[in-house]
Amino acid sequence: MIKGIHHVGIAVKSIDEALKIYRDTFGLLVVKTATVEEQGVKAALLQVGNSNLEFLEPLDETGTVARFIERRGEGMHHICFEVDNIDTEPQALAAKGVELLDKEPRPSPISGRICFLHPRSGLGVLIELAQPD
Ligand code: CO
Repeated sequence: MIKGIHHVGIAVKSIDEALKIYRDTFGLLVVKTATVEEQGVKAALLQVGNSNLEFLEPLDETGTVARFIERRGEGMHHICFEVDNIDTEPQALAAKGVELLDKEPRPSPISGRICFLHPRSGLGVLIELAQPD
């Protein structure tokens, strides 16, 4: 079951620049930062009420976030639904025809355990499912 929006993912060239705006100007609280080598990004999670913004900065020019910025510029990258069970929810959606990008849930230093769905299954929106720790 989808319980809410855990975060909105935003691709940026520089998390430092993002913090100047979203932390220093908008006053949002930084709750987590991490380097996620396997996704090729630095990440920062900023709380907005009961939800969050997740900023993603590419570590190099080869990862999916780097290619996203190259093609489409900085901006909204994905939406993350919080689910109550990351072991059953992706398969339940797959049974309804949703295309999974991750065949198995994987750990995330930012969001607990996660699974990405193909944008084809979300009218062009990249969707992440997460069950926070
Ligand atoms: Co995310």
